[in-house]
Amino acid sequence: MPDRPKRVRKAVFPAAGLGTRFLPATKAQPKEMLPVVDKPLIQYSAEECAASGIENIIVVTGRGKNAIEDHFDQAPELEHFLREKGDSRRADLVRDIGAKIHFSYIRQREPLGLGHAVLVARELVGEEPFAVLLGDVICDGPEPVTRALCDVYEATGVGAIAVEAVPRELVHLYGIIDARPANERKWGDRLRQVIDLVEKPEADKAPSNLSVIGRYVLPPDVFDCLERTEPGRGGEIQLTDALRTLAREHGLWALTTEGKTYDAGDKLGFLKATVEFAAKNPEFGDAFRAYLKSLKL
Ligand code: G1P
Repeated sequence: MPDRPKRVRKAVFPAAGLGTRFLPATKAQPKEMLPVVDKPLIQYSAEECAASGIENIIVVTGRGKNAIEDHFDQAPELEHFLREKGDSRRADLVRDIGAKIHFSYIRQREPLGLGHAVLVARELVGEEPFAVLLGDVICDGPEPVTRALCDVYEATGVGAIAVEAVPRELVHLYGIIDARPANERKWGDRLRQVIDLVEKPEADKAPSNLSVIGRYVLPPDVFDCLERTEPGRGGEIQLTDALRTLAREHGLWALTTEGKTYDAGDKLGFLKATVEFAAKNPEFGDAFRAYLKSLKL
């Protein structure tokens, strides 16, 4: 086989979901556009990509998701209006959103699951490794999680997913891995070799408490694995199931994250992200923390 590119340049954002957990807020706007403080959820993932050296983002969308495309597009009238008013700070902010990365969009015509959404991006990804970021997860920490996964892939040529330990009573909400130590000196205990994965197991059937957080860097071989994946949990084509095949046939690493992960697809996780990002905000963080302290809850 000719040498395949190892550098990870592309990322896939599955964003076709109906966002039912946030109804009625998501009746007429995509869940990816719900703001956490002053940025829509999906922008956190886009910024993680920019900080990870990703050049192209492929957004897999569905009906009613046009606001995502508009958000990452240029907005000349708005920019012009702000510059005329002398507000170049906000004008730059509007322009910078989509300026660093090239965006493409493709539609998932039927809601057949996360695995199917990734498969829809196959032609746009081509024969190269790529990242997958689930936009309702915000990763915050010293190092962008996608960058760390790209480093593992670029050094080893084997796919890598980010995992985090969760309490046993929450394993039924996540993909859970079965893994053994990788013994790769560079990453120490953080890197494991994935033996198997289970999508949302019952607590007593979970092989560990290491959950798949929603950040993946995968070789293009995963597309063949997805093609062979039958509908699984919930009748959907699960990415987790395709990763079982990938792990068996091509290997797969699991890297423990060092920062904090917010599952903002869930109302409580969304509120925690909002409160913590607001508390760190350079503009009003001090005032917000003082306000929180003053609350008699
Ligand atoms: C998806 C994945 C699951 C993963 C989770 C992370 O599930 O299928 O393996 O652990 O994201 O948030 P969802 O939350 O979309 O149901």
